[in-house]
Amino acid sequence: MAGSENLRVDNDGLVTPEVGGWAETKYRLLALYSELFSTGMKNKWDQRVYIDLYAGAGYSRVQETSRFLKGSPVIALTVTHLFDKYIFCEEDKDLLDALEARAGRIAPQANVAYVAGNCDAEIERIYKEIPKASSTNRVLSLCLVDPFDFGLKFETMRRLSTVFIDFVVLLAIGMDANRNYEHYVEGNSTKIDEALGNTEWRERWKVVGLRRSDFRPFLADEFCRSMESLGYLKKPLHRMKLVRSVEKNLPLYYLALFSRSETAFKFWDDVLKYSTDQKNLWD
Ligand SMILES: C[S@@+](CC[C@H](N)C(=O)[O-])C[C@H]1O[C@@H](n2cnc3c(N)ncnc32)[C@H](O)[C@@H]1O
Repeated sequence: MAGSENLRVDNDGLVTPEVGGWAETKYRLLALYSELFSTGMKNKWDQRVYIDLYAGAGYSRVQETSRFLKGSPVIALTVTHLFDKYIFCEEDKDLLDALEARAGRIAPQANVAYVAGNCDAEIERIYKEIPKASSTNRVLSLCLVDPFDFGLKFETMRRLSTVFIDFVVLLAIGMDANRNYEHYVEGNSTKIDEALGNTEWRERWKVVGLRRSDFRPFLADEFCRSMESLGYLKKPLHRMKLVRSVEKNLPLYYLALFSRSETAFKFWDDVLKYSTDQKNLWD
């Protein structure tokens, strides 16, 4: 299993966004899962595709430190058995340029498509990059959805879900749901409607009449319900990893897997188990 030393990289002088200390937990889980997925699915599918909708620059620096870490696309480019195709979408041109330079240096043999722009607006371009499946070319994709907040759009997931695809999603609702509660629940914001792909959640929230502090798990549960409507297996909250801030131990986000296959959850459970075993080192 990949250890923390596998995430460390040297400063290469290219653009590198800052991340909080908690990001290391995310990267470690992603590294473990990408490794298990790419190796475990190698002989079961003709092509494995890795899609990163919010790709970033490929490297990150932990704020107030000189620790440079692999970001999610570079983690996926450094697995033991490369994916057959990579699709990276990023709306910030400077970050995408830096990613392209890094990917070309780190994995020149990888087949990579770069999609510049907003992943929701560019969903058809992303979709077209996924190799066409047939009875003699079975294609399985793994898609990482890693926005800064709860700004993902369920319609984008719905479009991608028409192929064989698993999702690893960062439900960044810890701070967002708490800070913007009034805005989301009582205001005119459609952000949560768009993330969940429905407006019925509002009625359900009223009915359950839970405390404000329950809004975060409620949203996570609602997101699972939306994914279930696309045929994804029902998975309870404890199958998600709740990541907390390093300094104040506040809940930041859930990291969740969505798959239609139990095999993927076997890998996921190994990752969760490993992360629990490593709790003292990680949290
Ligand atoms: C939380 S960072 C994720 C970075 C990367 N996944 C990682 O962990 O190394 C989110 C990235 O998504 C980009 N972004 C934000 N909204 C986007 C959108 N709608 N479509 C594509 N990229 C977006 C931001 O510029 C930022 O680089």
